[in-house]
Amino acid sequence: MNQLVVIFLVLFVPTAYSAEGAWCYHDRTCDVTTWPTNYSSFCNGSRQSPINIVSATTIGNVNLTAFTFSRYKDNTTLKTITNNGRTVLVELDSGVQISGGGLSEVYDSLQFHLHWGNGTSAPGSEHTVDDRRYPMEMHIVNTKTIYNRSLTNVSTADGTGIAALSFLIEALPVNGTGSPAAWTALTTYLDNITENVVNITHRISLDDLLNGVDRTKYYRYLGSLTTPNCTEAVVWTVFKDTIKVSQDLINLFSTRLHLDQSSTSELMINNYRKTQASNGRNVTTQVTVSSASEMCFSLGLMAWMLLMLPW
Ligand SMILES: *[C@@H]1O[C@H](CO)[C@@H](O)[C@H](O)[C@H]1NC(C)=O
Ligand SMILES: *[C@@H]1O[C@H](CO)[C@@H](O)[C@H](O)[C@H]1NC(C)=O
Ligand SMILES: *[C@@H]1O[C@H](CO)[C@@H](O)[C@H](O)[C@H]1NC(C)=O
Ligand SMILES: *[C@@H]1O[C@H](CO)[C@@H](O)[C@H](O)[C@H]1NC(C)=O
Ligand SMILES: *[C@@H]1O[C@H](CO)[C@@H](O)[C@H](O)[C@H]1NC(C)=O
Ligand SMILES: *[C@@H]1O[C@H](CO)[C@@H](O)[C@H](O)[C@H]1NC(C)=O
Ligand SMILES: *[C@@H]1O[C@H](CO)[C@@H](O)[C@H](O)[C@H]1NC(C)=O
Ligand SMILES: *[C@@H]1O[C@H](CO)[C@@H](O)[C@H](O)[C@H]1NC(C)=O
Ligand SMILES: *[C@@H]1O[C@H](CO)[C@@H](O)[C@H](O)[C@H]1NC(C)=O
Ligand SMILES: *[C@@H]1O[C@H](CO)[C@@H](O)[C@H](O)[C@H]1NC(C)=O
Ligand SMILES: *[C@@H]1O[C@H](CO)[C@@H](O)[C@H](O)[C@H]1NC(C)=O
Ligand SMILES: *[C@@H]1O[C@H](CO)[C@@H](O)[C@H](O)[C@H]1NC(C)=O
Ligand SMILES: [Zn+2]
Repeated sequence: MNQLVVIFLVLFVPTAYSAEGAWCYHDRTCDVTTWPTNYSSFCNGSRQSPINIVSATTIGNVNLTAFTFSRYKDNTTLKTITNNGRTVLVELDSGVQISGGGLSEVYDSLQFHLHWGNGTSAPGSEHTVDDRRYPMEMHIVNTKTIYNRSLTNVSTADGTGIAALSFLIEALPVNGTGSPAAWTALTTYLDNITENVVNITHRISLDDLLNGVDRTKYYRYLGSLTTPNCTEAVVWTVFKDTIKVSQDLINLFSTRLHLDQSSTSELMINNYRKTQASNGRNVTTQVTVSSASEMCFSLGLMAWMLLMLPW
């Protein structure tokens, strides 16, 4: 790296981050408890995220069909990875898109990032399901194509301007083996990213990272961004299946990433927001038509067999 680049990074990076605001997870003067007052335009609202999903009270909705994923198979779409002081964020190439899945139109997939706890000692997903918190959560952030791939372009009056896909991450029972190769490759970058943006050179696709998830089974509700300014413009999809990654890879997030470029600064841990009041919002899911009709069919068959028995 030449001197000019060093000077550029030193001058540019702090400016870029202060412009984003000074909210945080780790310090009492800026942590999650301060957001409703410091970002009161939305963070104190009534359709905030994340929430606890109570599976028994979800409502069936026939509109929650399969998604269409564009370029999710393509292993050249992960462009850069960065530690922005609050999460690890991967920028996606243009043309990565989603549609279907009960969404009203096509959305561009802009980036994904992660939330975690403190390795083996504390889980850190944002959404909980039946009060269970998972070790990590991956969010793929999508915006309607009319917003030109820009989160800040999303109109705060558009309640579904952003579509967030949430994948809960669970630990495999054994360390070392069984993790998808894509996760092993992705986590090799964690040692190399401080605040500067690093190009991803490994061939990793989104499909590879979403290994093992049946993407036709999900929960849907209307909420917000889980970070300031908590814009209430998000249609959430939380997939029921988890991505399974070994504990040693999960632990890399809470042991390799620091809050700033100095490796002596605090570790980046527990970067999740606590669950918010549902305020009467419904969580919907697929209608289980097939299993209900199968049940009727087997009961009918059983009745018929009973009748046919030569008592
Ligand atoms: C948040 O608000 C508190 C007081 O409510 C204030 O002390 C603190 O400096 C504010 N933090 C930011 C990042 O604005
Ligand atoms: C959130 O804060 C704003 C500004 O202080 C206020 O106008 C609004 O009523 C508050 N909303 C809720 C739900 O408390
Ligand atoms: C499904 O979508 C149709 C057409 O947009 C709408 O009229 C209907 O209310 C939706 N059904 C549910 C259960 O949301
Ligand atoms: C995180 O976990 C490590 C290792 O278990 C522990 O030493 C540390 O105190 C924990 N940090 C917090 C903030 O809980
Ligand atoms: C998106 O880009 C087009 C063409 O550059 C422009 O006309 C339009 O105003 C932009 N939309 C927004 C929301 O910025
Ligand atoms: C925060 O809210 C303002 C409106 O108050 C909006 O213009 C801005 O784009 C929002 N920022 C993000 C990141 O959503
Ligand atoms: C939309 O985003 C583009 C690219 O970031 C930007 O140039 C443009 O000014 C934004 N438009 C609005 C209306 O914010
Ligand atoms: C991380 O940096 C080390 C040392 O510079 C290098 O050997 C390694 O290949 C880098 N890893 C990635 C994934 O770029
Ligand atoms: C990263 O990729 C961009 C665009 O492909 C390129 O211009 C830049 O030189 C690359 N940076 C490094 C450090 O390889
Ligand atoms: C990347 O995708 C191309 C085209 O499908 C394929 O030939 C190649 O084997 C893939 N690379 C890796 C490392 O998966
Ligand atoms: C996996 O390795 C981590 C340390 O990286 C350790 O804390 C954990 O107990 C191990 N889990 C299993 C199932 O061996
Ligand atoms: C939740 O679902 C129930 C039953 O379908 C319906 O009566 C109620 O209006 C819904 N509430 C909201 C906030 O959509
Ligand atoms: Zn997130």
